[in-house]
Amino acid sequence: MTTRPGRRFLSVDDLNNDEIARIFQHTHILKNKAKPLAEHRNAVLMTAFFEPSTRTRLSFEMAAHRLGMGVSVFDQWSSSMKKGEGEAATINNLLALRPDFLVIRQRQALDFSFVEDDGETVIINGGDGINEHPTQALLDCFTLLEHIEEDSLVNKHVLIIGDIVRSRVAHSNIKLMRRLGAKITLLAPREFHGEHQIGLRHITSFGDVDSEVDAVMCLRIQKERLKNESFLDDQTFAREFGLTHDRFLRLGQKCVVLHPGPMSVDVEIATEVALHTRSLINKQVSNGVMVRASLLKHLHRGEM
Ligand code: CP
Repeated sequence: MTTRPGRRFLSVDDLNNDEIARIFQHTHILKNKAKPLAEHRNAVLMTAFFEPSTRTRLSFEMAAHRLGMGVSVFDQWSSSMKKGEGEAATINNLLALRPDFLVIRQRQALDFSFVEDDGETVIINGGDGINEHPTQALLDCFTLLEHIEEDSLVNKHVLIIGDIVRSRVAHSNIKLMRRLGAKITLLAPREFHGEHQIGLRHITSFGDVDSEVDAVMCLRIQKERLKNESFLDDQTFAREFGLTHDRFLRLGQKCVVLHPGPMSVDVEIATEVALHTRSLINKQVSNGVMVRASLLKHLHRGEM
């Protein structure tokens, strides 16, 4: 009984450039308010995370609280999934409860072919398998643009290091950063690159970085997604691809560092880089709340 699907934010492709610009402008407004307006008291945001999360789930919940929304948290460990109810049936039940928003995180790509969606709920992707993590890319790009005080990444060089093939964060960021005009270089062991994407520079050594870098994003090895593939042990990865303090300094005097978290410190990123004055990592987390609040306002019946 799939009827009129509601608005879904599943990919950065679901927003056009004008919408992204408005969401970012409104994020600045929300950040500058002493107290964000609790103007969405009648709305309810529900989170359903079928995979662990610290930042994304709490950030959505904080954003909803800041807007005055009710918040309802689905916890699979105390749910009827423990009695054998499946994920699709569970999602159908959550939608039947008719929250205004349902933020879902799943271990695999979101598939709505089994979902009975009457169009009442806005479904938001909180990270689906290795596919996309669109709100992470929004907050990453917002944080970078805020730092450089520009509204595009034209002439900016972004270096992404790590397990790119299994990173939904990388996949959403590559799409969004390219749309914003960035030159992107991917640095990883050959087996972590995945299929080469046209227009991106793929390298396998720090020595191949060809120009100063404006921002470097480190990604952890997604061990929970590895099946039988061989992968580098942490020590080897740290030695060959870890962002040490020396390597960070060599990327350029203005280069800032981003990490979506969770971090494996001293593997993909050295502690002193994570804590460096040019680290935007905590800023990413803080900004995530208002970026998501701005997105919720945008999606909630188109209100901005
Ligand atoms: N960046 C991110 O998705 O973090 P969590 O897994 O903690 O939500």
